[in-house]
Amino acid sequence: MEAAAVPARLRVGFVGAGRMAEAIAQGLIRAGKVEAKQVLASAPTDRNLCHFRALGCQTTHSNQEVLQSCSLVIFATKPQVLPAVLKEVAPVVTAEHVLVSVAAGVSLSTLEELLPPNTRVLRVSPNLPCIVQEGAMVMARGHHAGSEEAKLLRNLLEACGQCEEVPEAYVDIHTGLSGSGVAFVCTFSEALAEGAIKMGMPSALAHRIAAQTLLGTAKLLQQEGQHPAQLRTDVLTPAGTTIYGLHALEQGGLRAATMSAVEAATCRAKELSRK
Ligand SMILES: NC(=O)c1ccc[n+]([C@@H]2O[C@H](COP(=O)([O-])OP(=O)(O)OC[C@H]3O[C@@H](n4cnc5c(N)ncnc54)[C@H](OP(=O)(O)O)[C@@H]3O)[C@@H](O)[C@H]2O)c1
Repeated sequence: MEAAAVPARLRVGFVGAGRMAEAIAQGLIRAGKVEAKQVLASAPTDRNLCHFRALGCQTTHSNQEVLQSCSLVIFATKPQVLPAVLKEVAPVVTAEHVLVSVAAGVSLSTLEELLPPNTRVLRVSPNLPCIVQEGAMVMARGHHAGSEEAKLLRNLLEACGQCEEVPEAYVDIHTGLSGSGVAFVCTFSEALAEGAIKMGMPSALAHRIAAQTLLGTAKLLQQEGQHPAQLRTDVLTPAGTTIYGLHALEQGGLRAATMSAVEAATCRAKELSRK
């Protein structure tokens, strides 16, 4: 899918100004997708709005004002707050709006039910590395959002990492793989470093090297476009160090445990979506 150009005068709104909203706003501004003064964010308190002001964005305590002055609005409140927020802004939603929710577990049909008929709605599942512009995001579009809206959103979100359009059924799987996956990878990084600490390496050095090993391997996987099994085979020397280590990993059940972790997190995401 080709990315649509961002209209020069596009005003981007954020309803909810926490960590995820700030990460996305920062990515958009740093990449020059929008100017800071074209961004308006709302939240009940100044706790997080002050970070938006530091970026040069405009802020308000009125959610309706965001809708009244921005055509593309990203809803980034906690999921349990979102229904009340959508009811509050519904009277000022027009056919010109493109509305985007990043709230985990809130389905497109729920979003559409809470908004006026024919509203153009999209749902995005982000992950924490959006903060460093290395997010792995997926998006799904509602019944009334067309390919132009999807292209525009993808163009914007590419400032925060990768973004692929998927059927909505994949969104909960993405939460298990990538939203929760950040924690799984942290656990692996920690365990890798602790192995080195056990063998006598200082802790800070071991953690730095473990994180860089993850980063370098991820870059190789992306740039070479190889299957991980191929890359793994490439670093194996017969009777060498790596095959001894891999044998230990297999004995510990790393692979099965990781698959079960993604399965468990996905099932929990589905369960929460139904509540
Ligand atoms: N963090 C992640 O890794 C991640 C990953 C995937 C999806 N998400 C989704 O992203 C969303 C935001 O998460 P977060 O971690 O950024 O949460 P957060 O840091 O707690 O931010 C929530 C924001 O919503 C604001 N808010 C609360 N009530 C509101 C209302 N009635 N009207 C307008 N704004 C209101 C809060 O205001 P104050 O500033 O006044 O407190 C705060 O700015 C969630 O729905 C989550 O499911 C997050």
